[in-house]
Amino acid sequence: MCGIVGYIGPRVATPLLVDGLRRLEYRGYDSAGIAILNGHGVETRKAAGKISRLESLLSSSPIEGNIGIAHTRWATHGAPTECNAHPHVTEDGSIAVVHNGIIENASTLRTRLTERGHVFSSETDTEVLAHLIEELYEDTLEKAVIAALSHVEGTYGIAVMAASDPGKLVAARLGSPLLLGLGEDEYFIASDVSAILAHTRQVIYLDDGDVAVLTRDGYDIFDLDAATKSHVVSRVDWDLDQIEKGGYAHFMLKEIFEQPSTIGNTMRGRLLEEEGTAKLGGLNISDEELLDIDNIIITACGTSWHSALIGEHMLEELTRIPVEVEYASEFRYRNPIVTDRTLCIVISQSGETADTLAAMREAKRRGARTLGLVNVVGSTIARESDGGIYLHAGPEIGVASTKAFTSQVVALALLTLKMARLRDLSILRGREIVAGLQALPGQVQQMLDRADELEELAEEFKRSPNFLYLGRGFNFPAALEGALKLKEISYIHAEGYPAAEMKHGPIALIDAMMPVVFIAPHDSVFDKLVSNVQEVRARKGKTIVLTSRDEPALEGLVDYEFRMPETLEMLTPVLAAVPLQLLAYYIAVKRGSNVDQPRNLAKSVTVE
Ligand code: F6R
Repeated sequence: MCGIVGYIGPRVATPLLVDGLRRLEYRGYDSAGIAILNGHGVETRKAAGKISRLESLLSSSPIEGNIGIAHTRWATHGAPTECNAHPHVTEDGSIAVVHNGIIENASTLRTRLTERGHVFSSETDTEVLAHLIEELYEDTLEKAVIAALSHVEGTYGIAVMAASDPGKLVAARLGSPLLLGLGEDEYFIASDVSAILAHTRQVIYLDDGDVAVLTRDGYDIFDLDAATKSHVVSRVDWDLDQIEKGGYAHFMLKEIFEQPSTIGNTMRGRLLEEEGTAKLGGLNISDEELLDIDNIIITACGTSWHSALIGEHMLEELTRIPVEVEYASEFRYRNPIVTDRTLCIVISQSGETADTLAAMREAKRRGARTLGLVNVVGSTIARESDGGIYLHAGPEIGVASTKAFTSQVVALALLTLKMARLRDLSILRGREIVAGLQALPGQVQQMLDRADELEELAEEFKRSPNFLYLGRGFNFPAALEGALKLKEISYIHAEGYPAAEMKHGPIALIDAMMPVVFIAPHDSVFDKLVSNVQEVRARKGKTIVLTSRDEPALEGLVDYEFRMPETLEMLTPVLAAVPLQLLAYYIAVKRGSNVDQPRNLAKSVTVE
């Protein structure tokens, strides 16, 4: 989604801001722009398309100064044109605004402002903010911003500067993430820490309703009533090399290959071998309270929703607590049954997905305890949930989620283990699960070492227009995830189904042109799955089978096989995810797709 970077300090702002925008590219965007405040007032440069176009413009028409704001836009209101790109400035060019989020009453405000003589030059909701600030400007920029925000409905993360109040940047947040970076005599604003990690690790995560004023001498934070607020300074422990490709062709490939260590990091210090359980320090919920839980709701979007489905299976099987999984976008708008004995688990890589955040707030409002399974430290879901489990998978830059997914499933396994051991899971079974988890990093590595097999398979199927992914039990969600990975980066139409459901419709699609990927580890539903392989084979479909043993039952039924190591049934989706990710990756590369920034997609969906 959109990205914001702002700078104030002694250095020349333009290269810092452009570098910041580059580091936000992964979030998805379709235009970019920059505004610098200098002796000539506010100067802007904007370009539709990639940041490289903005860079060419800046080299032919440079702008210099020590204060600036910059933006990558992912179009919502109005096409991705230069005119609609941010920053938006007032007619006289004196006030510039960049904005993430959506101003819901923009058209009403625009009409009122037009009646008062303001002339708009873009179709965006953001431009309304610039005019509104101008309209209400009396004294200082921050007062005008606070006054303007009192008329606004919707969500925003904004950075503003004005020629009439030079030497100052103002930032404000409501529902769209924003942080301040604190350097040596210099300050940054960013919507994502990656943008400023090269310059500082000291950050302040703004809360909803915060307004920050940055000068070269320091910063102040206020609420929307202009009362001063104090804030905690956090230290970011991600390294710069974690947000670089490190020799890999794409971030996605790097992140797939990082999984032996990221899975290990999710478990680090959390497994108690002897006791056969897990220790989860951040839950913020006592064992007694965990025992009191009547029902669990897991809510998430996209890939995180797929891991939720696996979590449902694990938790119900081992704890016997009823679990319901719901798309966050649906949960927030219905009348769910939530009590004070409901545990609401919220899963999000970014910790900022708008629907997931809103669903969590709704569950909380209704009295549930909330647990966030989040990767990004300091993100809104991490801060607002009652407790949680950090994934510790490190920054995920590739738009298609890979390492976060396997870490989510592992974190769910840890939570299941802990909750089940508090109930009636035996110590022996607990130890088995601990051992299964401990073996995962090595098993994932074994499959990564055979990535070339999947690259060859990709060559075979790169032109297929459709794919079907089938699995049962724990691996039905793995099938959904495999299909999602393929469609989002290769643009091939792919569907995931519970294998037995195929007979109720999708079987009509099967012919010699249809590749069908079966996730078939040797588990309790293996025999059932073999029948489904037979059904595809009988209709001449191409069968690609991920399995874990030499199985006589599969003889003559398999066109392509990939062998996975054996693990406990509940952990099979972690292993299955890896070849599915690699297959999708190689097919997408062979089709020439932009794997790390697939069309129309954003890394973190911060609007509804
Ligand atoms: C798919 C993907 C998305 C995200 C979804 C939720 O590869 O990345 O489907 O999983 O947008 O994002 P988070 O987990 O950040 O809430």
